Amino acid sequence: MAGRDLKPLFYPKSVAVIGASRTPGKIGYEILRNILEYGYKGKVYPVNPKAEEILGLKSYPNVLSIPDKVDMAVIAVPAKIVPSVLEECGKKGVKAVVVISSGFKEIGNTALEEQIVNIARKHSMRLLGPNIFGLYYAPPKLNATFGPKDVLPGSIAFISQSGALGIALMGWTILEEIGLSAVVSVGNKADIDDADLLDFFSEDEHTKVILIYMEGVRRAKEFMMVAKKVAMVKPVIVIKAGRSEKGVKAIASHTGSLAGSDLIYSAAFKQCGILRASNIEEAFDWARALAQLPPIPKRDDAVIITNGGGLGVMATDACQEYGIKLLEVPEDLIAEFRKYMPPFGSPYNPVDLTGQATEKEYYGAIATALNDERVGIVIMLYCETAVANPMKVAEALLKARKEAKTDKPIVSAMIGGEETEKAIRELNRNGIPAYPVAERAISSLAALKKWMEWRTRRGAG
Ligand code: ACO
Repeated sequence: MAGRDLKPLFYPKSVAVIGASRTPGKIGYEILRNILEYGYKGKVYPVNPKAEEILGLKSYPNVLSIPDKVDMAVIAVPAKIVPSVLEECGKKGVKAVVVISSGFKEIGNTALEEQIVNIARKHSMRLLGPNIFGLYYAPPKLNATFGPKDVLPGSIAFISQSGALGIALMGWTILEEIGLSAVVSVGNKADIDDADLLDFFSEDEHTKVILIYMEGVRRAKEFMMVAKKVAMVKPVIVIKAGRSEKGVKAIASHTGSLAGSDLIYSAAFKQCGILRASNIEEAFDWARALAQLPPIPKRDDAVIITNGGGLGVMATDACQEYGIKLLEVPEDLIAEFRKYMPPFGSPYNPVDLTGQATEKEYYGAIATALNDERVGIVIMLYCETAVANPMKVAEALLKARKEAKTDKPIVSAMIGGEETEKAIRELNRNGIPAYPVAERAISSLAALKKWMEWRTRRGAG
């Protein structure tokens, strides 16, 4: 299986950085620094014929002069030297190569790209790239990229066909505290492509969700076959750029991919159970929720609990738009909810605790909903007020979830200032997807529902 061939790429015992530069700020230097500083525990060998030592490590003039085995090589030398360096890697018995260098098919150098693929095949090496920013994989603490260093480990595998966007998003996930199991820059996909990576990540216990930024697919048939299989096991989210005619033309000059008709992509994704996100924010919103939420139970009616009527109405609209059913609250449950609100509150759905609600009322109403078997999903909404401290409300939600008899999907939207933002982070850190607006919370819930429904239609239990 293709996924198994990729083990030396993700779990190398030793890594050579060929083109490790002596100069800070150069790509070969920054990759070596990231590998060392992120804490990779395997052996690391800089290769540079002009250097004696780089970042405190002995440097070797070429890969063949390294006294030990080398599993993986990161190559950051100008394109024209790549073939000779690859030959040496092949002779050394390197199993996987990560070719950072640009200057291949993306600028019309198809022959040079074919040459490096042939060399890799001849020596049974798998090749990632060329024209990429590298690879990050959390389990071996390997950050072999020239992107940001302090990536947060987590369970989302992110595959990016765009280099600059991929690097930028690595930085953005740090800011947003989104944990990643992997970041793979695929660039020209001369050898390793989305189908190979889907295959690997479907069996990877550290990855719960796979997110792909894609411009074009290389082996469409294989991709669809693998995606259908993988989507039965874990969610696959795709941002497919080039939705417009002009976007398709822009792709041709960016990664040289044949983008094809957007309608065909949409239909193919649907058939494979792939969730197509229309932008980056939506893709990561969904990924975060799908990585954290338990399955939606068979009784999937949702209850909205809020301290703001307007926010409740907007969430109701979003539920209708995204196909989330709202529970018709039965009489006995109405009586229960009434205990946590003043007479002018509303115990129907949305359950409006009113602006005078504190964390105590939130806790009571949430616990009631979580412990009632007729409620399948809880949507907690909050508008910042002086009487309800946002962190205390978040803590009340976490306490109610901890004490609940069953594990139900809970999403949250909290609107307010700085303190509310801290509360949102607290919820996300503790596995409750939380957002600054209701629509994003409900769209994420709907992505989970859509994926689960697709699996059920395909016969999943
Ligand atoms: N083996 C090992 N090292 C060698 C060899 C060799 N045969 N020959 C030279 N080197 C050394 C050089 O001496 C140099 O080290 P030094 O700085 O200590 O002297 C180092 O390797 C790098 O070689 P340079 O010739 O200085 O090349 P440079 O660093 O300028 O560029 C690079 C190399 C980064 C691969 C460049 O050619 C390139 O392709 N850049 C684009 C990379 C890129 O953008 N990737 C894609 C996508 S990501 C995105 O879009 C953001």
